[in-house]
Amino acid sequence: MEAHESQITRLEAMPSVAEFYGTYWNKRPFVVRGAISPDVFAGLITGDELAGLAMEDAPQSRMVLTVGAHHEWRCRFGPFNEQDFHDAGDVDWTLLVQNVEQFHPQTGALLRHFDFTPRWLMDDIMVSYSAPGGSVGPHIDNYHVFLVQGEGRRRWKVGHEPIQNERYIAGLDFKILENTFAGDEVELGLGDILYLPPRFGHEGTTLERALTFSVGFLGPKQSALFSSYGQYLSECEDLDRRYVGGGLMAASAGFVIDTAAVNDVRNQLASQLKAKDFAQWLVEFFTESSHEDFGTYATREDPLDLAEFQRALQDGLHLIKPEYVKFAITAAAGGQLYLGFDAHSFTFDESLFPVISKFMKEDAVGLQNAPQLADDGPALSFVHELYNQQALEFEP
Ligand code: SIN
Ligand code: CO
Repeated sequence: MEAHESQITRLEAMPSVAEFYGTYWNKRPFVVRGAISPDVFAGLITGDELAGLAMEDAPQSRMVLTVGAHHEWRCRFGPFNEQDFHDAGDVDWTLLVQNVEQFHPQTGALLRHFDFTPRWLMDDIMVSYSAPGGSVGPHIDNYHVFLVQGEGRRRWKVGHEPIQNERYIAGLDFKILENTFAGDEVELGLGDILYLPPRFGHEGTTLERALTFSVGFLGPKQSALFSSYGQYLSECEDLDRRYVGGGLMAASAGFVIDTAAVNDVRNQLASQLKAKDFAQWLVEFFTESSHEDFGTYATREDPLDLAEFQRALQDGLHLIKPEYVKFAITAAAGGQLYLGFDAHSFTFDESLFPVISKFMKEDAVGLQNAPQLADDGPALSFVHELYNQQALEFEP
């Protein structure tokens, strides 16, 4: 056995939360065999359904193929038609569709197996359907990705360390590394999970027609944080204060910005970042959808009034937070919490946290396990508001 073969850590079971953040998150790849039980996949999207999604306008889809005697790379973008799939043949292609949890909500069921992750950083579930020989080539992602293998088998090569200063093959409209990287190989079958931190080189090759679910976590760019926060400040009237040159001294006369004035502007900006609203904006920011067709925060077309809502719960109905609905929760002042959903925020009292945390665990919530909802109190009215804003649904 070569020395570097231990680089992908083989685990018997998913790591504990403490182990995950201490040893693996952002640091090292690991693989777990049979981490997801086969029956879970029965409810997720199938290859045919994925092909169907790729024929629609809204989902972002692409197909990566190799063609000709020299196996030249090609990438085509959806929507596709029957003929495209026919032309792709039986080997050497991969179909990839993004944000599948939104277009096929049942696929979101996979997310309940990722409670140990920072779900507020989850970007999407991308699903690939590939024929034998299919590969999207050696590449890196800025994402953290959990590659969950559905049906079929794939062989993955995974680099030993993150790649910096990467170079890509010129002339392609997708990114394939120009140079090879040193790595280990691992074969994945049904239910296996491979975790890859950002920028670790990887390349999957399909051995048997395969469905792979990529659960991706992506942090924002600093520039996106700044511009979004700037936009938020501009929308809050009392925060849209001007710099008025307070405290300017003789040294700033004419066209000179004195160092003291530079520092003053910088400090004013920094103090905005310390404002209490910063945390509130952050929960809104992290719950913006990455797909333009989603995240349009709106009251449902058929809202229930409080009495109707209460009756539904008394009749034994249960509420759920669909897995694709992203929440972000953080502390506010005075025993309050902020809840972000669809780029909006709510403030609620921490006494309601036990009920909200049930939704975050994706439990079905009814009067038996959340007796606070039986009273005509703040828990009921908050949950009622979340329901009418489409953050919650009655269990079908
Ligand atoms: C694939 O499923 O082929 C692509 C997933 C990835 O490399 O991130
Ligand atoms: Co990748």
